[in-house]
Amino acid sequence: MSEQYIVSMQKWCEEILESYHHSYEELSRNHHKDTLENWKSELEIFQAQLNKDDRPDNKEVYERADRLFTQFEAYFDDENNEQESILRAHNEAGTVPIGGHTLPPLPYSYDALEPYIDREIMRLHHDKHHQSYVDGLNKAEKEMQKARQTNNFELIKHWEREAAFHGAGHYLHTIFWNVMSPNGGGMPSGMLMREINQTFGSFEKFKTHFSEAAKNVEAVGWAILVWAPRSRRLEILQAEKHQNLSQWDVIPLLTLDVWEHAYYLQYKNERKKYVENWWNVVNWREVERRFHEAQQLKWKPF
Ligand SMILES: [Fe+2]
Repeated sequence: MSEQYIVSMQKWCEEILESYHHSYEELSRNHHKDTLENWKSELEIFQAQLNKDDRPDNKEVYERADRLFTQFEAYFDDENNEQESILRAHNEAGTVPIGGHTLPPLPYSYDALEPYIDREIMRLHHDKHHQSYVDGLNKAEKEMQKARQTNNFELIKHWEREAAFHGAGHYLHTIFWNVMSPNGGGMPSGMLMREINQTFGSFEKFKTHFSEAAKNVEAVGWAILVWAPRSRRLEILQAEKHQNLSQWDVIPLLTLDVWEHAYYLQYKNERKKYVENWWNVVNWREVERRFHEAQQLKWKPF
């Protein structure tokens, strides 16, 4: 990447930050302080990354600057409707709106995986089954939005389950279509192969373990090779009835333990009181840090 481009981006960051400070009073009349602060810290993180040796590539720099700018503009655009302008900025940045998931197209024809998987399976699996996960997820998201708007959470357990079931189905199938190819088979190479060898002993051992995990999933589910950013290692997991582990392909940002061991000694059976009090100890700085890190990972939206 040319130095000149980076220098101009650094200058752009300074200018837009200046204009942010300049307009802060005006903006804060119509927008929540946290919204503005979040935007500012995202810009500052971007600015800091520009100064590092391992800065993001050209395309990412452009996209992030573009997103920051679109968001900033939106704060002026529709001053009376913060939600609207944030939503618009998000859509422009490739966010899937609430209830707006779509069925990703198959990256090959229905018969492309024959003779291993025949055309009829692929057609049904993609067009019917995956579509119904997309529809179910959209419905659950909209119902949960309605619950927030009306403050009626009577059916929340049901819709959370639906969101987990259909969300896991949608996200896992979206990965599944793409990790298959008519030109597939063989072995991985490069860093992934090194990591597989290191973790599982050899490619053959990995393949045996993964196959056994798949064959032994109780009733329905998946075998999944995962990367754990925490241990920085690969692992093979089973997902029984995928929703039992909630949605997959998402990153937890804020977690609240409601196992009895987390509150029983103090609250006895009053989980409600524990949950309400818990908000007093949430470390939002850490949640923000995880959120910023997680945002670096961007899949194509569906
Ligand atoms: Fe499936």
